[in-house]
Amino acid sequence: MAREMTDVRLDVGGAAQERPASAAAAFRPPEPIAIEVENLSLWYGKKRALTNVSLAIPRNRVTALIGPSGCGKSTLLRCLNRMNDLIPGVRIEGTVRYHGVDIYGKDVDPVEVRRRIGMVFQKPNPFPKSIYDNVAFGARVNGYRGNLDELVERCLRRAALWDEVKDDLRKSGLALSGGQQQRLCIARALANDPDVILMDEPCSALDPIATLKIEDLMRELAEQYTIVIVTHNMQQAARVSDYTAFLLTDEETPGQLIEYAPTQELFTRPKDRRTEDYIRGRFG
Ligand SMILES: Nc1ncnc2c1ncn2[C@@H]1O[C@H](COP(=O)(O)OP(=O)(O)O)[C@@H](O)[C@H]1O
Ligand SMILES: [Mg+2]
Repeated sequence: MAREMTDVRLDVGGAAQERPASAAAAFRPPEPIAIEVENLSLWYGKKRALTNVSLAIPRNRVTALIGPSGCGKSTLLRCLNRMNDLIPGVRIEGTVRYHGVDIYGKDVDPVEVRRRIGMVFQKPNPFPKSIYDNVAFGARVNGYRGNLDELVERCLRRAALWDEVKDDLRKSGLALSGGQQQRLCIARALANDPDVILMDEPCSALDPIATLKIEDLMRELAEQYTIVIVTHNMQQAARVSDYTAFLLTDEETPGQLIEYAPTQELFTRPKDRRTEDYIRGRFG
């Protein structure tokens, strides 16, 4: 069993002393913070993808990462649960603290990090198994001792899918519609009992009605979980998120956080000219 992350001592690297490049990016939500990103930089081999990103992600809120394609949204999201560890040649500098613990610290088990900080991907990716087995999968792997039927029902209810599938739990997850598959993936993530759920463009493969269902679900889930969503759809960010972070990339500073603010504010009174140009649709 992994060591409790809360027992691991804080480890703040020297890079954390630098200040963010942009004043607007220094915004800090007033709520308790779930994940604190400090001066994070990332390279894929020699190619830099993030430059000194600092971002405090509040608990029980929906935080959206927006910006044009290739600006580093997915890269940043994957840093939050060490998913980039799985990509060869990745190097990071800076810190990501989850409830005060450096998740890249020596004593931290990345598998435990990914259990607490779950991920839902762009393309729904149910296992080629029954609906029931998709949700029960992680619990079985981890030797769950409780009642599996109850767990499956609870997670499917929370993912707003139960009523649609309760009579077909033995049906293949792959037989569901795209929107249902995505909610099944959310139910599967919930079954690991996470605290944070990362979603990378979770609606981009879905039709508008399925998209609205997932957006409603995100709002509901935020009562119990911390949600971070990557979206290139600004209307979506405006509809579902409490806070929005805008990233940009250019030759000199790949993957830079330009502005971070309450969503309402960022979309109505952006502080940075580049944010304004982007949300008015002048590029990207
Ligand atoms: N696995 C990878 N290997 C090398 N470069 C990558 C990899 N993933 C992303 N990149 C590069 O990093 C930059 C940021 O990509 P990404 O985080 O996917 O942006 P976004 O999600 O905002 O579209 C891009 O230049 C992209 O080509
Ligand atoms: Mg992406």
